Amino acid sequence: MRQYKILGGQRLSGEIAIGGAKNAVLPIIAAACLNQSEVYIHNCPRISDVLDSVEILECIGCSVEFLGNTLKISSSAGLKYDVPDECATKMRSSILFLGALLSREKRANLALPGGCSIGERAIDLHLHGLELMGAKITRTEEKLFCETEGLRGAKINLAFASVGATENLMIAAVKARGETIIENAAREPEIVDLARFLKTLGANIRGAGTKTIVIKGVDRLNSHASHETMPDRIVAGTYLLAAAMTGGEITLANVRPFDLAPFASYLTEMGCKLYPDDNCVSLAAPKRLLAVPRITTKVHPGFPTDMQAQFVAALSIADGQSEVTETIFEERYKHVQELRKMGADIRLTADKKTFITKGVERLHGATVTAHDLRCGAALVLAGLAAEGETLVKDAQYVERGYASLESDLRSLGTEICLVGAGGEAVFGGGALVGGASPLFSDCSLVGMSPRSLDSFRV
Ligand code: EPZ
Repeated sequence: MRQYKILGGQRLSGEIAIGGAKNAVLPIIAAACLNQSEVYIHNCPRISDVLDSVEILECIGCSVEFLGNTLKISSSAGLKYDVPDECATKMRSSILFLGALLSREKRANLALPGGCSIGERAIDLHLHGLELMGAKITRTEEKLFCETEGLRGAKINLAFASVGATENLMIAAVKARGETIIENAAREPEIVDLARFLKTLGANIRGAGTKTIVIKGVDRLNSHASHETMPDRIVAGTYLLAAAMTGGEITLANVRPFDLAPFASYLTEMGCKLYPDDNCVSLAAPKRLLAVPRITTKVHPGFPTDMQAQFVAALSIADGQSEVTETIFEERYKHVQELRKMGADIRLTADKKTFITKGVERLHGATVTAHDLRCGAALVLAGLAAEGETLVKDAQYVERGYASLESDLRSLGTEICLVGAGGEAVFGGGALVGGASPLFSDCSLVGMSPRSLDSFRV
């Protein structure tokens, strides 16, 4: 098992370009098999979740190749509708192939999805919506067997604004007979990116990014489509926090500042200075971060759950007490026990939803374990800020969502490397090498004045 070896105490400084968004590209990859077409997905991050999705595409009969950071997907004649169990169980987003295969082949057999152990990860909203659209779904302990005589438009009111369910139903509705209305739809930027892709395929969609998405089914889709994946706002937020926690400064190129709006104001409240510009943002950290009294995760445009663990790590060394409440995933708290090993003073409430943190001056290095993707990212951040050496085990979780974390952070002046179980250096890690690289953007810190947060407004 790979692990990150970090020598803390280095001040992070420099410029880096952010790659494509994991949570945008995964539904787009699934949607690419909706039609007999050639699809080019640009700015595709080289992360293990993408590699696992590519494996599913190849197993069902698509041909796929990476051309630099572009993924080319050709889905020709009939696809297999039986997704191999070992592929489906690796990650959560395998469930997104359900809508595409039902639409394309009228059948889909899929083992229940895997994914980070941050909660139950139910799929009832996906299945209920697809049944309203005419799918017949039989479910065993481990697997879903689905078929339809042809998907039809339906009015679907999601009990919870589920990102995955919204995406699955959007994909299924593209060629359904009639109009589909998704009420209480998720509004995340990744939903808008998926809609942009589906429209280049020829879909008739309006309302993506709002609570109500209307999709008029079309008979035919285009045989070619290309899409530029949006930048990863969570990777961007993670890197901003890395600079914030080490008293550093950073410029991120290829970001969209308004995507960062749901958490940017907290960075400012913690004493950071932010300099947003057209497609980049810079941050200058204070000597010591200030605590933020309360943060609560919510669906977009609220504070994103995917930034919760990283902010708890930052607040663990901030001056003062803070309370962070996780409302989206019932088990997204495993970073707390690991941060405590590094000297953090964090108390979990009985329901394990709220983390009460009293910031300490300094964390100390320790051997800790990544229990899930963002837990691992939070522990790497803590290691950068800690005194001494930190070993973050089970780095493979982090590689699911960060294409080149260690080379990016090394290029920003920190001491981090990926090592194997025996401590030997590993280059490139589990994900394919290549990803963000330092860029000399035109928005370096010099001469920039802190702009109002209006630029971050959605
Ligand atoms: C997506 O997961 C993201 N993953 C997650 O990112 C992200 O945290 C989450 O959306 C929320 O923004 C991808 O896009 C691949 P949900 P998803 O459906 O679709 C419950 C990361 O770190 N729910 O919005 O699984 C569910 O149990 C990952 O990058 C149902 O009850 O999120 C959870 O409590 C983690 N029934 C809540 O909704 C359903 O049918 C949010 O789930 C579906 C979901």
